[in-house]
Amino acid sequence: MMLALIYDVIIHISYYMGGYILEKLIITGMTPLKGEVSISGAKNAAVAILPATLLINGICTIENLPNISDVKLYCDILETLGAKITWLSTHEITVDTRNITSIKAPLDTTRKFRASYYLIGSLLGRCKEAQVGIPGGCNLGNRPIDQHIKGFEALGATVEVAAGDIRAKAKNLVGASIYMDVVSVGATINIMLASVLAEGTTIIDNAAKEPHIVDLANFLNTMGADIRGAGTDMIKIKGVKELKGNATYSIVPDQIEAGTFMCAAIASKGDIIINNCITKHLESIIAKIEEIGGNVDANGDHLRVWYTKRPTKANIKTLPYPGFPTDLQPQMGVVLATAQGTSIINESIWESRFQYTSELNNMGAKITAQGKTAIFEGVDCLIGAPVTATDLRAGAALIIAGISAKGRTEVYNLSHIDRGYENIEEKFRKLGAKIERVKE
Ligand code: EPZ
Repeated sequence: MMLALIYDVIIHISYYMGGYILEKLIITGMTPLKGEVSISGAKNAAVAILPATLLINGICTIENLPNISDVKLYCDILETLGAKITWLSTHEITVDTRNITSIKAPLDTTRKFRASYYLIGSLLGRCKEAQVGIPGGCNLGNRPIDQHIKGFEALGATVEVAAGDIRAKAKNLVGASIYMDVVSVGATINIMLASVLAEGTTIIDNAAKEPHIVDLANFLNTMGADIRGAGTDMIKIKGVKELKGNATYSIVPDQIEAGTFMCAAIASKGDIIINNCITKHLESIIAKIEEIGGNVDANGDHLRVWYTKRPTKANIKTLPYPGFPTDLQPQMGVVLATAQGTSIINESIWESRFQYTSELNNMGAKITAQGKTAIFEGVDCLIGAPVTATDLRAGAALIIAGISAKGRTEVYNLSHIDRGYENIEEKFRKLGAKIERVKE
């Protein structure tokens, strides 16, 4: 009761301070999810492909765009830079980038999400100059961009960070061999973007291999680029004079959204068919779900996940692809919170990705988190409570926790969730969840 009161006070203060309509999700738990769900286009591919359109001196069509706020935000930014965007449907646009008039992307938009830093690579690639506000995004601890800068400098650019902006400039961009000191999705993508129109060949060594990197390379190659080896740890980009575009590209299904529903099937003791996914991208999650006693039947572009008995304990270490993805760690944490025995999660990518565990402990879980390690002592079940999403994937995990818990759960801070999940409550409702979004 006291907790709900405190939440209400906070909500109202931020309402008057923020001046925006506040929403929360109300979930009545103990509902085994049943039925079919279809996966949307991948957020982390879409937020790389949209800025990549700046490299095209022409028009392109993008299909299977997820209907999420990060995509809307990116389209707004592209239009301020001079692009013309036509929405053909909720998931399909044409982008005309023949007339780019600015190289400045203001801080007030770029700080709302991380992927805004891809504007540096694209504008540098096209205009040899970029001025982009420092990126924002999920608070997962320290998020340096030294490898991005290393790559841009190797191609011949100068980069300075001043007054809230990242400014990059180059007379010419010339291909180079770049060894990544850490496996970084963002730096791999940004260097790809900056080298597509550069003179000569660029080699990215120790590159990240995530599905969205392959999807970006396929998009750029469809538009006229010459990129080989995406998906391996060595990517070769032969610079071309121009990307003409004049083609259509469909974005890959979201690996992390599919994994989120796989965890929800087990945590809720349910039985779900997940359509429009690429099961190859889900191998590490399938293996972990089978290891804890869940059932998976994978078939090309769909899979069935179903519960038969209480999961057993397991240890997880998050790793770059094809290892277990860090973006599924919180959702899997909910499954392990009610598993039989004690599990350990090692978060090797981010310094601070266990904030959600204190919310789960408010729901009766027994989790001890310290730095990059958390110990989950499995409890019989979670109890509904008011909880707050601290970032995108933590938000998805709290929804799963609410669906599987006893009683009523209220989830706050939905703007985090809307950044990366399309109509999440509607998709869960179609699977039988008792979930509704209400305005405060
Ligand atoms: C991307 O972030 C994703 N974001 C993240 O997903 C995801 O968690 C992450 O990759 C890892 O898979 C997008 O694609 C928009 P990194 P990014 O560069 O690119 C260190 C979500 O929920 N590093 O691969 O920022 C860094 O500190 C989001 O969808 C450097 O040291 O991640 C981290 O420890 C959250 N220097 C590691 O590398 C650098 O210059 C991996 O970071 C860059 C990174």
